[in-house]
Amino acid sequence: MSADLRTTYMGIELANPLVAAASPLTGTIDGLLSLQDAGASAVVLQSLFEEQIQHHELQVDSILESFTDSFSEARDFFPALDSYNTGPESYVRLVEQAKEVLEIPVIASLNGISRGGWTRYARLIEEAGADALELNIYFVSTDARVAAAEVEARYIDLVTDIASSISIPLAVKIGPYFSSLTNMAMRLTAAGAQGLVLFNRFLYPDISLHRMKVVPTLHLSSSEESLMPLRWIAILSGQLSVSLAASSGIHSAHDVVKLLLAGADVTMMASALLRRGPNHMRQVIGGLRGWLDEHEYTSVKEMKGSMSQAAAPEPGAFERANYMRTLVDFTVASPDPRHFYARRDPIPWD
Ligand SMILES: Cc1cc2nc3c(=O)[nH]c(=O)nc-3n(C[C@H](O)[C@H](O)[C@H](O)COP(=O)(O)O)c2cc1C
Repeated sequence: MSADLRTTYMGIELANPLVAAASPLTGTIDGLLSLQDAGASAVVLQSLFEEQIQHHELQVDSILESFTDSFSEARDFFPALDSYNTGPESYVRLVEQAKEVLEIPVIASLNGISRGGWTRYARLIEEAGADALELNIYFVSTDARVAAAEVEARYIDLVTDIASSISIPLAVKIGPYFSSLTNMAMRLTAAGAQGLVLFNRFLYPDISLHRMKVVPTLHLSSSEESLMPLRWIAILSGQLSVSLAASSGIHSAHDVVKLLLAGADVTMMASALLRRGPNHMRQVIGGLRGWLDEHEYTSVKEMKGSMSQAAAPEPGAFERANYMRTLVDFTVASPDPRHFYARRDPIPWD
């Protein structure tokens, strides 16, 4: 008999642990239907951004008139929002339509950083029928006067506001860059997050030497990037009872298996689906099923977390202890520096 792939995410029972992450594919009904057909157990809709809501509500044109020159980039940016997915009202309609046509759970997504009127969309999204809400907090702190504690308080305040305004489950999607991620995760949970999505993938500006201009970049991810969520999910899953979703670098069935072993409740995919199309989901689910059968696991629940830090025979492998060992192993395996250049797979412990 084939393994039972079911999992539970924020109290929602899912047919398997493969969820489509927020991306342009989850911003249209056609995209959502093709993901459902390919076996996605749930979808996270493309985000509605705080900026979109403010743009809509503040009659931004007249406000921009009064902006100083230092806001000129904002003037360039806002018109682009008109053609970016939908405005706030059509976003709410997208949630309603998605609920009408899909059988799988629909997780809507809000993307913002500040407290304020825009957060009332959480309630509107709930009323539109979303099964859960994901809040993506993508904050790049650049002011040297703002201490880490202040930034963290901002996250907590925002999560508290939104969690207290809705009754559907709330997941918070964050980046990995906190001095104490475990503490932050605990506080986000205490503030009302029932799920954590680890991690947001930061995009970095580049400098075009050809145009002598700072340009945005968006490279799709690769499997190696899943090692970051792997470490932190392994560490957090034994310490917190919150649901954990892995995001970043999940491309193959093996990536999914590893994240589940580390303790993820679900794994989310964006880049792999954008690169290979929604049907890739079907292949990954087949690969997961095959792996479980081959390794004689009867269910996802049985294997989940069995290689977390709490369960692993070597808990130090997830911490600093492994850092030096890894460097030493790399060096000892190739005492002659010329071997570094020649080695194709420089991982002696694999
Ligand atoms: C083109 C593109 C659009 C995205 N749009 C959103 C979005 O609207 N909201 C969001 O929370 N994440 C968004 N993401 C981030 C993904 O949901 C995901 O967290 C990230 O890409 C890492 O996963 P991956 O390695 O599978 O791509 C986007 C990613 C891509 C590549």
